[in-house]
Amino acid sequence: MSNKYIEEASKLSPRAKAMLEDFKADLEKGISRIGILNDEEIYQAELEKIFGKRWNYLAHETEIPNNGDYVLRYIGDDKFIVTRDSNGKINAILDVCPHRGASVCRAEKGNSSHFRCPYHGWNFKNNGELVGAPAFKDAYDGLDRSQWGMKHAPRVEKFHGFIFACLDEYAPSLEESLSGMAWYLDMIFSLQDEGMEVLGEPQRFTIKGNWKIAAENFSGDDYHLMYLHKSTYDIGVMQIPLKENMKGYHIQAGNGHGVSFSIDLESEDPLFFFYPEEIVKTFNLDNLSEDQLRLARGSRVCVGNIFPNISFLMLPLSPDPKNVPPTPLFTWRIWRPIGKDEIEVFNWFFMYKNTSEEFKRASYQAAVSSFGIAGTFEMDDPVPWETMTRNAGGTFAKKHMKLNLQMGLNGMGTSKQVMDWPFPGIAHYPRFEEGNQRAMYRTYIEEMLKDE
Ligand code: FES
Ligand SMILES: [Fe+2]
Repeated sequence: MSNKYIEEASKLSPRAKAMLEDFKADLEKGISRIGILNDEEIYQAELEKIFGKRWNYLAHETEIPNNGDYVLRYIGDDKFIVTRDSNGKINAILDVCPHRGASVCRAEKGNSSHFRCPYHGWNFKNNGELVGAPAFKDAYDGLDRSQWGMKHAPRVEKFHGFIFACLDEYAPSLEESLSGMAWYLDMIFSLQDEGMEVLGEPQRFTIKGNWKIAAENFSGDDYHLMYLHKSTYDIGVMQIPLKENMKGYHIQAGNGHGVSFSIDLESEDPLFFFYPEEIVKTFNLDNLSEDQLRLARGSRVCVGNIFPNISFLMLPLSPDPKNVPPTPLFTWRIWRPIGKDEIEVFNWFFMYKNTSEEFKRASYQAAVSSFGIAGTFEMDDPVPWETMTRNAGGTFAKKHMKLNLQMGLNGMGTSKQVMDWPFPGIAHYPRFEEGNQRAMYRTYIEEMLKDE
């Protein structure tokens, strides 16, 4: 493919560029643009400039534990087969047959040593190498097979068993790109020597909403809990009172990532997200630095977004408040854009590996009943997300609607920057604050306007 096409494909249209420049000019005043939430040109540019450049989450090692295991996953609008090949190496292989472009893999997951294209029967190893094709001698004698294997994502890296890929071969490493967020994730994933394992299949569903709305929600919109999710709180699924739960920190973790803790750093009893004592006993606290231990000890809830579209949440909830005590759960999800106004959610639940089957089941039940497809929390959010997205497509709204992103800015409200924050990033207390969202959009605009 000519370099000229590649260069041109990633250029903004003058109209999209003007929209982003307007947004940039207003962002530091806490003003955002509704128009970027439903716009075809902006969306096409995001596929190139955001999803084509950043680290994207694909799968967890425990989803493909054996040689030959594979799952189908996506980066933007491209489909990849994530395989553990016959040598145990993990690959992200573009599911496009190099012969004429058909998909070679038609199952969502499985175990196979080879993939055979259904069109003309080219046959590939599970590391993407071309092995052969029907009537090879008649059809292809002289073809250099080594040149016609399947294409790989140029970069694949892991963080605590979480597998990411990046389509930009010159991007910084995954860990560098995670910036301060690596420290907070490390705190969560290191609690047990064995790490975490996936519980079952990812739940998948679509929302007629723009991916950025979901990302900014998880990056630091705790404020909506007080209203949108109030009825869920009222039935007692969470035992931390709403106002108490706002006591905590918003942390801009660098590179557009945002994380938020409901926390009591002075708590006499160790909290550890309310994991029961028998689970806390399995934690190896030597894996944590002194600072990480202090934070984990006081943590009640942790929620965050890894820019661009990977969100997570650890908190204790009850699936049945009258009969079942709250159990900690961990959800990890991606908001895969499938258009300017729609996302497909991949929603995984995880638990520490070295816990009983009974505890894993209890955590899974707490997770499914709250943050599953039909969960008490999960069902609330798409309602405003979908109207926001629909409204953003309005011709008049797109030109004239500016939105408010000012909470906590220049002394507004009670939230203040914590000047002596001892951990990575920039922190504010309490969580009545939208600095994480502003930081996310600052990175977003920088990426979108890069090389323009
Ligand atoms: S398109 Fe795959 S073998 Fe022809
Ligand atoms: Fe929500």
